[in-house]
Amino acid sequence: MIDVTGSADPDRIELGRLVPELDELIEAVTRAFGGTLAVYDPRGQRLAGTEAAGPPTRAFEHDGLRLADLASDGPRAAEAMELFANALSLLVHHANARELAATTHEAAMRLTFAELTEHNLRLTRAVSRLEELDRLKSNFLATMSHELRTPLTSVIGYAEMMVEGIAGPVTQDQRDYLNTILNKAVQLLGLITTVLDVASLESGQLALERTQLSLADVVASEVATFQGQAVRRGISIEFAVSESSHIVGDRRKIRQVVSSLLSNAVKFTPDRGKVGVTVKPGTLSPTGDDPAMQLVVSDSGIGIPVAEVAKIFEPFFQVDSSSTRAFGGTGLGLTLAKAYVEAHGGRIWVDTQPGHGSTFTVAFPMERGSA
Ligand SMILES: Nc1ncnc2c1ncn2[C@@H]1O[C@H](COP(=O)(O)OP(=O)(O)OP(=O)(O)O)[C@@H](O)[C@H]1O
Ligand SMILES: [Mg+2]
Repeated sequence: MIDVTGSADPDRIELGRLVPELDELIEAVTRAFGGTLAVYDPRGQRLAGTEAAGPPTRAFEHDGLRLADLASDGPRAAEAMELFANALSLLVHHANARELAATTHEAAMRLTFAELTEHNLRLTRAVSRLEELDRLKSNFLATMSHELRTPLTSVIGYAEMMVEGIAGPVTQDQRDYLNTILNKAVQLLGLITTVLDVASLESGQLALERTQLSLADVVASEVATFQGQAVRRGISIEFAVSESSHIVGDRRKIRQVVSSLLSNAVKFTPDRGKVGVTVKPGTLSPTGDDPAMQLVVSDSGIGIPVAEVAKIFEPFFQVDSSSTRAFGGTGLGLTLAKAYVEAHGGRIWVDTQPGHGSTFTVAFPMERGSA
C-alpha cells in the first residue's frame, strides 16, 4: 500500500513525496518534445511545471485513485502528455514497491526484536531463579554443616574420654575400636569443616585475618606434617627456600592452601616419586611482571589431562570420579585454595603433563621493592 501518513487528509496520497523527481521528469520530456507541462494535485495546487501549460486536461490515476491532474501545451502536447503519464506511472509503481519492501522489512525487524526481548526476559528470569536457588543451597549447606558439627564434637569428646579410661578400664580391642571411631569422626569433622568453608565462601563471607608472616615457615611446618606419609611411600620431598619470604595474610587460610597442594602432590604421585617445594620471589602471574612471593609445588605424579585442567578448581570436581577411584578426598581442596589465594589478591595456576607430573604455583602479591 502507498503510505498516506504525514498528510492532513489520510486518504490523500502525496505525489510530490512519492515521486520527488517531478521537475527533472518534466524537464526531460519538454526537452524531447518542446512545449510546457504541469502537474497539479487533486485540489488544484501546482506541484511542478509552469502555468504556461494551461489548465489540466488529463487525470493521473494509480490503483483507481486520482493522484494528480496533468496539463500540456506545445506542438506535440499529446505525445508529451502520454510519455509523461507513462513515466509517472512507472515511477509511482516503483516508489510503491520500495515502500512496501521497506514496510515489510521494518515489520520483520520489529517481530524479531519482540521475540528477542521476550527471549531475554525469559533468560533473565531463569538466571535470577538460579541465583536464588544457589543462594538457598549455600545457606542450607552452611546451616547443615553447623548442625552436624555439634553432635560430632560430642562423639569425639566421649570417645576420647573412654580411650583415656575415664569411664573405667578398656580392653585392647575396645581401645582399637574406639581409636577407629575417633579417627573416622575426626575425618568426618574435617570434611564438614571444608564443606562449611566452601558454603560460607559461596555466600560471600570470606573474611581474612591479616598478619605479617613468613611463607617459608608456614610451608616448612606443613612439609613436616606430610613427611611421615611421604617417607612411608618412598616419596622424597625436597624443600628449598631462597630468602626471607614475608607476606601479609591469613595464617590459617594460607596453611590450608599449602596443605591442600602438598596433600595432592603426595596423593597423586606413585610410590618412590618426587615432590619439590620451593618458596621464592617471582611474578604474580605466569606472564605479568607484578612482584609476588611464590610457592611452587611440583610432583612426578600422574598429571592432569589437558581437557580437565580448567575444571580442577571447581567444587567437587575430580578427574577420575569413579567409585573405584584409588584416591580419596572430596574435590574441594583446590576450590578452597583458589578462593583463599584470590582473597589475598593472589593467583594460582598449574602446568601439567599427563603421566609426567604437575607443577602448581601460588603467588601472593608483594609491594614493589619489598623483596
Ligand atoms: N598434583 C596433582 N596431580 C594430579 N592430579 C591432581 C593434582 N592435584 C589435583 N589433581 C586433580 O584435581 C582434582 C581436584 O583436586 P582437589 O584437591 O580439589 O580435590 P581432591 O584432592 O580430590 O579432594 P580433597 O582435596 O577435597 O581431599 C583431584 O581429584 C585430581 O583429579
Ligand atoms: Mg586435594
